[in-house]
Amino acid sequence: MTKVSNETRFLHAIEMGLGAWQWGDRVVWGYGQTHTDKDIREAFDVSLSLGIRFVDTAEIYGSGYSERLLGQFLKEIDQPVLVATKYFPWPWRITKGFIPRALKGSLERTGLESVDLYQIHWSSPLMSPETMMEGMVECVKRGWTRTVGVSNFGEKRMIQAYTTLARHGIPLASNQVHYSLLNREVEKNGTLARCKELGIRLIAYSPLEKGLLTGKYSSENPPPGVRGSQYVELLKRIPPVIKLLQEIGLNHGDKTISQVSLNWLICKGALPIPGAKNLQQAEQNAGGAGWKLTEEEVAKLDEATDHIREYSKT
Ligand SMILES: NC(=O)c1ccc[n+]([C@@H]2O[C@H](COP(=O)([O-])OP(=O)(O)OC[C@H]3O[C@@H](n4cnc5c(N)ncnc54)[C@H](OP(=O)(O)O)[C@@H]3O)[C@@H](O)[C@H]2O)c1
Repeated sequence: MTKVSNETRFLHAIEMGLGAWQWGDRVVWGYGQTHTDKDIREAFDVSLSLGIRFVDTAEIYGSGYSERLLGQFLKEIDQPVLVATKYFPWPWRITKGFIPRALKGSLERTGLESVDLYQIHWSSPLMSPETMMEGMVECVKRGWTRTVGVSNFGEKRMIQAYTTLARHGIPLASNQVHYSLLNREVEKNGTLARCKELGIRLIAYSPLEKGLLTGKYSSENPPPGVRGSQYVELLKRIPPVIKLLQEIGLNHGDKTISQVSLNWLICKGALPIPGAKNLQQAEQNAGGAGWKLTEEEVAKLDEATDHIREYSKT
């Protein structure tokens, strides 16, 4: 039985969001070379016009530039946008007091009085989920965030966070984790099932496996930079998956490989937040929502990707 609390219900009503890691990040995403502020603005605008109203950023994206850019955009539009950002538990910031202080910085950069979702970016061996959540409770009490989430938390730490917040009458809104057709760890290790059981929204990051699930990359044409070396093995195994995605897309009025990949996540009960570098990518990704694959198609994609990588046994 799913128990979704009233405070977090809005997150369950969102089909898809927009990731903002690309906004200002040079190291992985080549900001300034492959895309500019103008491209990002166009991606943001087209997303909004196509009904995407949830943006995921973080204090570390572009060292604060992503939040600043979002703040600038928000001032220039008149539609409501739901904003999620994140606290990074650097080893020198491991007491609970750092969390509201960091959120204050995010609020200043975005120009907002409060965000809709404040997430812990990664778990840390130096900071317990209890300490993290005590800091988050303070953020809620000050009215600086509407809801609280975690990211990259395994099932055990997620439950610890959930339980600590519950003592304060606060629901754990979400767990943002790596989830795509090419990385189904959260299905295999029980995190997805546990989220559904507890009414925690599972937010799927890198839902296009950093561009691999668009069909434009192959072993002969790998993605640039760090992604190229990260995906050497996976690139060798994806051609049959790409072919199947293409075939399935044809059954739905020529949906693209990316759109079918994003829709598969929606069918699994996750909230994908694809990143986009320009208008064309954002426009295409928005078309991943608003329709549904059949159960048979989902099963076919499951079968095709079941053994695409090895999963740790938990
Ligand atoms: N919590 C965490 O630890 C964490 C970690 C990672 C990401 N995230 C969040 O999740 C969001 C999405 O994940 P991600 O950015 O890692 O990866 P992603 O969404 O899987 O891939 C995004 C990249 O794929 C390419 N792309 C996207 N749409 C495309 C399209 N329609 N056609 C062709 N290429 C397309 C673009 O790069 P190229 O054009 O260069 O190929 C784009 O930058 C991030 O922005 C961030 O908000 C969170």
